[in-house]
Amino acid sequence: MSIKEAYCRAHTNIALIKYWGKSDPVNIVPTSSSLSLTLDRFYTDTRVSFQAQLDQDQFFLNGQEQEKAERDKISRFLDHFRQLSGVNYRAQVSSYNHVPTAAGLASSASAYAALAGACREALDLDLTDSQLSRFARRGSGSATRSIFGGFVEWSQGSSPENSMAIPIDAANWDIGMVVIAVNKGAKKISSRQGMAHTLATSPFYEEWVKQSRQDLDEIKTAIAQRDFTTVGQIAEANAMRMHATTLAANPPFTYFEEETLTAIRAVQDLRAAGYDVYYTIDAGPNVKILCPASQMTAIEEALGQYFASEKIISTLPGGPIQILSEWTYDN
Ligand code: DP6
Repeated sequence: MSIKEAYCRAHTNIALIKYWGKSDPVNIVPTSSSLSLTLDRFYTDTRVSFQAQLDQDQFFLNGQEQEKAERDKISRFLDHFRQLSGVNYRAQVSSYNHVPTAAGLASSASAYAALAGACREALDLDLTDSQLSRFARRGSGSATRSIFGGFVEWSQGSSPENSMAIPIDAANWDIGMVVIAVNKGAKKISSRQGMAHTLATSPFYEEWVKQSRQDLDEIKTAIAQRDFTTVGQIAEANAMRMHATTLAANPPFTYFEEETLTAIRAVQDLRAAGYDVYYTIDAGPNVKILCPASQMTAIEEALGQYFASEKIISTLPGGPIQILSEWTYDN
């Protein structure tokens, strides 16, 4: 057969223990392990079609054919699968993101996880999910964790071969997340640039790695005990520790904007009012609030005093990658 095709959905994830730096930037091996929660509401659907008659890879995002730079990234990613399978066909890749840009969540995590899942299926590769996560990692570090649902650890490993994701817990015990999409003002420093600059220049960096290891051990214990409050406290502290490294970089920088601080204050106010809420922040100004799913509606309503309702998006934990039986998009 001259066409090998499959469709896959992957959900994005939010790190509670952050990945912030690479010991091997070429192969994307991190300086420390991280841990995330996969999110149900935000996902990418991807179709890959390896075809004997294609003379180059093609990449469509939300129906639009992408330029060479984007296509080259996808080609390099596909090369890993071509090498493993021995199938040398070029491919057509079509992805649809259901990750609103305003939510400030990385679509690269769900995008590379979905593409990896589609490639495994299309090429009929004998890879476990953890083995597959090593391939997703080559696209973007955070994609490693999007292969699985619930709470997921990306175990740093000691080499490109053993740096991979491990499922920790399905997170089906009263956990939710409320995203506050604050305004984007200042020029964006990508996570890739931000973490490299921090690692190279911040005197806090080594401490960050050390503390993060301890945070990871403690949050895993708290997850095992279903101790939501401790999970939230550790996640909040870990995020602030990551952001502290950027303030000490040379030159210093921050992802925070004015509204980021307003959101932090809102979370503190809600906590004082008795809600079990904790914030985390990635390489951008948006604030994500970890909360019990049972309190989500009340929290959304309370946040209405601080932010317009269209800036507030709630979600439950999401599941693992999933093969789709049909492709319902235009291309
Ligand atoms: C702050 O996965 O986007 O969101 O591996 O360079 O593609 P690359 O970086 P990326 O970094 C995510 C950084 C973070 C924390 C996290 O998701 O763990």
